[in-house]
Amino acid sequence: MSCTLHRANVVAILKREHQAARTLRDAHRAKQKAEGEFLTHEHDFRTSELHLTQYLSVGPATGRFLYACARSINAQNIVEFGSSFGISTLYLAAAAADTGGRVTGSEYHASKAAKANANLVDAGLSGSAHVIAGDARETLAAIRGPIDLLFLDGAKELYFDLLLMLEERLRPGALVIADNADMLPEEAGFLLHVGEGSDRYVTSLIGFYRGLVSLSVVLPQG
Ligand SMILES: C[S@@+](CC[C@H](N)C(=O)[O-])C[C@H]1O[C@@H](n2cnc3c(N)ncnc32)[C@H](O)[C@@H]1O
Repeated sequence: MSCTLHRANVVAILKREHQAARTLRDAHRAKQKAEGEFLTHEHDFRTSELHLTQYLSVGPATGRFLYACARSINAQNIVEFGSSFGISTLYLAAAAADTGGRVTGSEYHASKAAKANANLVDAGLSGSAHVIAGDARETLAAIRGPIDLLFLDGAKELYFDLLLMLEERLRPGALVIADNADMLPEEAGFLLHVGEGSDRYVTSLIGFYRGLVSLSVVLPQG
């Protein structure tokens, strides 16, 4: 049984990108420490240097989780909010290569989207995924359903907006995976909407080294 995630060039590109993410993050932290500040995510994604330059990516454990989720539901139509330099996109694209599906990623910063697409080419996965540059509220607005898997990893305050925008296009049994669930502002409403008491989703929070990931399965309606 083949697994694209284990293919030599995919392994090599993931290793290179995870290493680059760590190097940039460490340099950023050292700079902030020297300046007496703390690394914070409370920045506007459109204007902050953090969002323009840093990977802010999932780690290998979360990446393998994304691959496993997409592969286990044989996901054909995978949508990603917030691709950055495309590390999570690579994991999802590897799954899409194995299911015959496709990933549509989204990234506000054009330079990041271009690098994410170049990484997909390097990994031989450009036929399975593409990252669109621009605000996902616009670039993903017309995406076709049914959607099998929605991965939310862009601006935390927009998770709920993106979910509401795409909700009607999620098929029964689809998965909604939200990274950094522990960083969502309470007023964002996302966790209230998918959490206990929802008749549309069953949700569980899963702890990873870098925080909580929320996993929701979409229930059939009616
Ligand atoms: C946490 S990072 C994503 C990391 C990526 N998923 C990975 O694991 O490699 C969040 C990214 O979302 C982007 N972003 C935030 N809000 C966005 C929006 N409304 N539309 C498109 N991209 C957005 C930011 O520019 C940033 O690069």
